[in-house]
Amino acid sequence: MSLKEKIPMIAVSTVLLGGVAVIVSNALSGPKSGLPIEVEVPILSPEAKLGEAVFSENCLVCHGLNAAGSDHGPPLVYNTYNPGHHADGAFYMAARSGVRQHHWKFGNMPAQPNVTPTDVKKIVTYVRELQRANGIFYKPHNM
Ligand code: HEC
Repeated sequence: MSLKEKIPMIAVSTVLLGGVAVIVSNALSGPKSGLPIEVEVPILSPEAKLGEAVFSENCLVCHGLNAAGSDHGPPLVYNTYNPGHHADGAFYMAARSGVRQHHWKFGNMPAQPNVTPTDVKKIVTYVRELQRANGIFYKPHNM
């Protein structure tokens, strides 16, 4: 086989190997792959900016920058957390008592005893503004 004939074969095998590598790495990263998700950050209201600060200190480590998710926790800018499925009360409960693993595979969320209800109110404003900027609105929950 001349070199000229070999070149297309080399090209094809390179593409195939690349594809296999992508498939293998996706399989290995499991259900947490695709995090963080892409989040559009709007111009935040003053209350939301306060929420962003509390969030960054207490929640970002798991829920990620801009609540886009991380290796340790799910994105909150996510349809599952629209106000119809997870009303604001879910945020107060989560901070006060933690959350048992049920939607994801990250394990349980520990309670956040340093975060007061006043802090949570600001966080909720922040997360809802992010959600709306990313097309996540109230959807009635009928499960
Ligand atoms: C140590 C990691 C960690 C930290 C810190 C953390 N979370 Fe979570 N959180 C999680 C995980 C993991 C879940 C998903 C549990 C599931 O559904 O499987 C979750 C779920 C939630 C939910 C959904 C509750 C529900 O009813 O399903 C809310 C709301 C939430 N977190 C808010 C917060 C807020 C607000 C903070 C900061 C004050 C915070 N989290 C800090 C890990 C964390």
